[in-house]
Amino acid sequence: MADENAPTATPEPLVRVVGLKKHFPLRSGFFSRRTAFVRAVDGVSLDIGASETVGLVGESGCGKSTFGRAILRLIEPTAGTVHFDGRDVVALGARELRRFRRHMQIIFQDPYSSLNPRMKVKDIVGEPVRIHGLASGRRAVDDEVVALLEKVGLGSSAMTRYPHEFSGGQRQRIGVARALAARPRFIVADEPLSALDVSIQAQIVNLLKDLQEELGLAYLFIAHDLKIVEYLSRRVAVMYLGKVVELASSQDLYKDPLHPYTRALLSAVPVPSPGAKRARILLAGDVPSPIRPPPGCSFHPRCSIAEKGLCDKEAPALRPISTGHVVACHKA
Ligand SMILES: Nc1ncnc2c1ncn2[C@@H]1O[C@H](COP(=O)(O)OP(=O)(O)OP(=O)(O)O)[C@@H](O)[C@H]1O
Ligand SMILES: [Mg+2]
Repeated sequence: MADENAPTATPEPLVRVVGLKKHFPLRSGFFSRRTAFVRAVDGVSLDIGASETVGLVGESGCGKSTFGRAILRLIEPTAGTVHFDGRDVVALGARELRRFRRHMQIIFQDPYSSLNPRMKVKDIVGEPVRIHGLASGRRAVDDEVVALLEKVGLGSSAMTRYPHEFSGGQRQRIGVARALAARPRFIVADEPLSALDVSIQAQIVNLLKDLQEELGLAYLFIAHDLKIVEYLSRRVAVMYLGKVVELASSQDLYKDPLHPYTRALLSAVPVPSPGAKRARILLAGDVPSPIRPPPGCSFHPRCSIAEKGLCDKEAPALRPISTGHVVACHKA
């Protein structure tokens, strides 16, 4: 007899990304047929479980937004696969994709430019409800919008107002309500706090956390601020020049960072207690161009422990160091 309580095999994660690449073609000159490529995302694999938050950090230009958008197919991946709940997202045709989008939404960094200034809030939030047929009839859509606004801490008086009538934090709440309107199970939050005052950031963080608990949402949380990522995420991926260089539970990553790049990023985060001072590691130079990434380990020109003949020649593969902790570094 089947035992209903028997543990099942490890379930497939909600989102499984394997070997994702996005290379933007760049024509080198007007008459030139030779094309260069911006290797914005260059082979990233990542699982995100249902109700899980995975943080994604890294310096500007390392490919975080491109990765988030390519998962949702807001831009078309060059290579790789994305499975959502077992379904191959990359293989979906245009019509199927439109229907499927419901499950995967995005919250943008800038609540000023991401909301149509000519639309009333009830239309901004009501649009996904209508498009996906989640309520029919004006009254039902409006009722749904009021419920969504309440969920994000805005009253029904917001319905007939326009985005410019709101503060940054309130606009981001509208952006969250719009994302929720489709009743998604997965949300890419692309630096949703960085345009907001510090005093408002905590409110939005707590809103995202509460909504996750209530609705069982999974997040890919993209951020510069490592402190916020630690607070929100169960696991954190560190990206450098289009690749994941380290991935661990947020506890392990902050306690025991292994990649010199992760260490450098963390050393810039202020430590709360003065006794636990962390030596500041300065990152030399800028992020190299993703058009011609350095040979070997792409971090080696900025790395203080790089070994000549090894790190400048051979690209390190991601390898497990302990359970759930992987790093791409010859010296770790
Ligand atoms: N449409 C595009 N065409 C060409 N190159 C692009 C395009 N979009 C992004 N890039 C390049 O891809 C790389 C990754 O950009 P991306 O915006 O994903 O980085 P990011 O990590 O999100 O940076 P930030 O922290 O500043 O938001 C950059 O070098 C960027 O210039
Ligand atoms: Mg970005």
